[in-house]
This record gives sequence, C-alpha cells and structure tokens, in this order.
Amino acid sequence: MENTKKRIFSGIQPSGNLTIGNYLGALRNWVQLQDDYECIYCVVNMHAITVRQDPAVLRRRSLETMAIFLACGISPEKSILFIQSHIPEHTMLNWVMCCNTYMGEAQRMTQFKDKSARHADNINTGLFTYPVLMASDILLYQADLVPVGADQKQHIELTRDLCTRFNNTYGETFVLPEPYIPKIGARIMSLQEPQKTMSKSDPNPNAFICILDEPDVIVRKLKRAVTDSEGVIAYDPDNRAGVSNLLSIYAACTGKSMDQSVKDFEGQGYGSLKNTVADVVVDTLSPIQAEYNRIISDKEYLSKVIEEGDRKASAIAQRTMRKVYHKVGLDSK
Ligand code: TYM
Repeated sequence: MENTKKRIFSGIQPSGNLTIGNYLGALRNWVQLQDDYECIYCVVNMHAITVRQDPAVLRRRSLETMAIFLACGISPEKSILFIQSHIPEHTMLNWVMCCNTYMGEAQRMTQFKDKSARHADNINTGLFTYPVLMASDILLYQADLVPVGADQKQHIELTRDLCTRFNNTYGETFVLPEPYIPKIGARIMSLQEPQKTMSKSDPNPNAFICILDEPDVIVRKLKRAVTDSEGVIAYDPDNRAGVSNLLSIYAACTGKSMDQSVKDFEGQGYGSLKNTVADVVVDTLSPIQAEYNRIISDKEYLSKVIEEGDRKASAIAQRTMRKVYHKVGLDSK
C-alpha cells in the first residue's frame, strides 16, 4: 500500500543539555505525532557550530541528544532518527537556498540579533545564514508539518517564503511546510528572568531545568524561581511572567487546561505552587531519565539506530537534491 501519511520534520541542536523547554515545546509533541505522520527527527549538529563548540563535547552531546530522543519515546521503528552532518545534502541545498535568500530577509531574523548580541566576539556568517540551513533541512525532506516551540515560528515563516519563491522561479519542487506550535508549553520562560525564553545556552544554570536534572536540583531551581510580590496565583503572562510560567509548566506537565491549573492553586501561596510544580516536573522526567540511563550505556544500539536512520534519511535527501540540481541546471543531463 502506498504511504499516504503526511510528513513531519524537526530538529534540536546538541548545543547544551536539553531543557524542559525543549521537552514541553517540542519533544513531547514529536512523540505524540509519530502514529499519524511519517516523522523525521534530526540532531542538528551543524547548526550548533554557529557558536564555538569544543569538538569532543559536541561529538558526545550529539549522541546524548539522540539518546534523549529515544528516552522520551521516539521510536526508531516508527520514525527516522538521524544526525544532520551525516547527510551532505543539507549543505548542498543550503548553498542553493542561500543564493535565493535576500540579505534583508536574513537580517530581520530576531534570533540572529539576539545571538549576535550574546556572542559579540564571534558574529560569523554561519550565524547569519543559520535560518537558511534550517529552511534547507525542512525542504530537503518535503515536510508538510514542522513541530517547534514559538521561538522558531519566524524561521518557519522564512522557510515558507523561500519555498514559494523557489517553486515560482524553478517550477514545483518543494512541499510548502506548516508550523505546528502547541497551545500550552510553546514558550517556557527562564526561571530567573521570566521575560526571556528558557534556553539551554543560558550562562545561569538556575534559569533552566534540564531533562536530566536530579530531583533535588529540580526542587532547588524551582524554589529559587523569580515570581513577584502580589502573592496571588493568576495567569497573566504580560504582567506576572514568573508565576504564569510556573502555571504553564504545571499545565503542560499534567495535561490540564490553564483554567483548571489556576483553580488547582486557588487560595494557595507561591511556596506551595513551587513545590507542586517541582513534583509534577520530577514525575514527568523520572521515567525519561531512567530510560536515558539505560540507552546511553548501550552504545552499540545507539549506533545501530543512527546508521539505520542515516540510511533512510539519505535516500529521501538524495531524491530531492537530484530534483533541485536539475531544476537549477547544476546537473549535466
Ligand atoms: P533549539 O535546539 O533551540 O530547540 C529545539 C526545539 O525546542 C523548542 N524550544 C522551546 N520550546 C518551548 N519553550 C522553550 N523555552 C524552548 N526552547 C526551545 C524550539 O522551539 C525547538 O522546536 N533552529 C532550531 C533547530 C532546527 C530545526 C530545524 C527545527 C534546525 N533545523 C528544522 C525544526 C526544523 C533550534 O535552534 O532549536
């Protein structure tokens, strides 16, 4: 029977220890989407080198990130799991797409502005063209849907613009992808500066909770989370960012609506909010951590999963690239 499922592509950078932001904004949905879509999930290690990385650490983190994918419940029987740098077509398409992207489009990307402010000593052209590589990742696999957190929405919009332009210029080549952004958990904020998105590369480790943090670390970080002096638990992300963020984490971990989550804390203080959020985060992460410890110690299994995923990804990527080279006139047929 012909495969009629729609296709999904998404990726995570191995640029630090994955956080509950990565889990609640992306990974959790990746797991749920596996039964209804043909899913392709990637460790995007080439994106990670836009910021200076220690080579040995990057190599180790790429494997650890793959082990986290598996530990969260992504199944190599259902989905294709692979490592970006193993498939050279990403860089091939990236170049073609760079030649079809305007400077102004890349300059508008807010993540580039943020990252160049944070890494003022290393504002490289890779950082600038990073969203074009991301667009290439998605278009290479002809993805219909891209499950991401809210911080990636602008990059998906750029991908759609580049896709439409390419198809109009060279003839129908790529599928036009849609973003898939969850209602709750799309933007988990920093625990220390709740106006900022929680990020695995934040220099202050108290700002984020890692998927692999021990229970006592999770409790401590949540106890220290910045709130406000109002003392009443309400959801108001614009004015009460800290408390609202804790409520979002609670709602995302328990699967409850925001209304129900606020009701659960009626009449309670911030101390008990923080304790209960810590409990649900620990309950959510404990089974993942146990599974992670099992998988990371089985290097042979991990290599097998990656080899198999690389092989399947490569077949799809090569098919698209042949088409692209032909359309652009880079082949000799
Ligand atoms: P990255 O590695 O920063 O994050 C991976 C995924 O986690 C989501 N996320 C969050 N969601 C909610 N709250 C947060 N605090 C939070 N932090 C991160 C991100 O939105 C993302 O879905 N450019 C991408 C990686 C990438 C990619 C792709 C994604 C490269 N190529 C192709 C999709 C398709 C990035 O830096 O994600």
